[in-house]
Amino acid sequence: MDQVTFRSDTVLSDVHLLIPNARHLMVRLNAAGQPVFVSRFKILQCSEGVCSLDGGQEGAGEQNETQTPPQSLVDEDGDLDVVRRPRESRTSEPDLRIRDRVNPTILSRGEATELQWVDEEEYSKDVIKIEHTMATPLEDVGKQVWRGAFLMADFILSQPELFKGSTALELGAGMGFTSLAMATVAKRVYCTDVGRDLLGMCQRNVALNRHLLESAGGEVKVRELDWMGDDFPSDAASEFGWSEEEIADLHDSTTVLIAADLCYDEDLTDSLFRTLYRMTSNLHQPSTIYLSIEKRLNFTIQHLDISCEAYDHFRRCLRDLGGLTDGKMRFSVESVETRFPQFFEYERVEQLELWKVTASFVSLKKREKPVIPVPLEGAPSPSTQ
Ligand SMILES: C[S@@+](CC[C@H](N)C(=O)[O-])C[C@H]1O[C@@H](n2cnc3c(N)ncnc32)[C@H](O)[C@@H]1O
Repeated sequence: MDQVTFRSDTVLSDVHLLIPNARHLMVRLNAAGQPVFVSRFKILQCSEGVCSLDGGQEGAGEQNETQTPPQSLVDEDGDLDVVRRPRESRTSEPDLRIRDRVNPTILSRGEATELQWVDEEEYSKDVIKIEHTMATPLEDVGKQVWRGAFLMADFILSQPELFKGSTALELGAGMGFTSLAMATVAKRVYCTDVGRDLLGMCQRNVALNRHLLESAGGEVKVRELDWMGDDFPSDAASEFGWSEEEIADLHDSTTVLIAADLCYDEDLTDSLFRTLYRMTSNLHQPSTIYLSIEKRLNFTIQHLDISCEAYDHFRRCLRDLGGLTDGKMRFSVESVETRFPQFFEYERVEQLELWKVTASFVSLKKREKPVIPVPLEGAPSPSTQ
């Protein structure tokens, strides 16, 4: 195979098309025989709300907080520095006008066991390196990285105090990009999804970024969690199964759940929301769920207008969760303003949204420990007052 072919039913994430100066280096075929590419996502340095490769000092006043491109895309006069394709890749051949031909170099085939190539950014603490596929059928969308993952990662990095030292659960983590960003501030991230091949790629991405995790002190555990099922597969049954200790730790310690770009199919969205209810009601502490979504608008004959049915369904599920009165759980839903700094280079389109759901128990749970104030040394105890 010397060329990647795009079938009519494949989807391609804009993230992979728009990486400035991207070198789409194909490194291997995954276990399913799909070409695997590697991308490096630089974490920009932010200063006073402006992010750039060098700390965002120059021209800081010209940027509005987030909607303008990062400094590295703007020249010294403030004009947009459009990244052009290399001259040799522009061609008049009709089949190549739309998209560059990808000439992959296959370095190895099958499951990778060790890091195969090194460059100057290999061990950089401000680069997240992700192996992914470039175009997939819908059932394999998790093998690409989506804009919602970037929005969520931006939010995490712009509000590290919210997540510092926490235990987090990511649902539908795909290639693990957001879990890795979370692990730069959180103590532990349970990074979950389904499919042995996908989870294998995700696990490898965790290994590729271990230098980042070692320096931050966070841990990412890649585990299987299917919204369609009720169980945590045990580690005896699957390579990505859960040990009893992990299940106990998840329930005892998790206070944050994240879900990036998971609502594109109504049945899946229903099962995601059932899982969110089940997870948060089984945790031993109140928790906060963050959900990112991209409203993908299409013209439909049915509506004779542009609409996004998946988004409308997501909003209905949010509304139902917020209105739930089952006597056990209470959920409050709010939209999060997305004008926080942009730590990664991607197009933060206005259709990208972030939602926050606070989950609390209506009555004190049996296993929930009441908070007993510890008297300060030397201070009179309540009984002696
Ligand atoms: C559009 S991708 C988003 C991946 C990643 N969060 C991102 O934004 O790059 C949707 C993800 O949901 C996962 N997913 C779909 N159905 C699922 C299920 N029943 N249980 C768990 N994950 C599921 C897919 O495998 C995929 O990784």
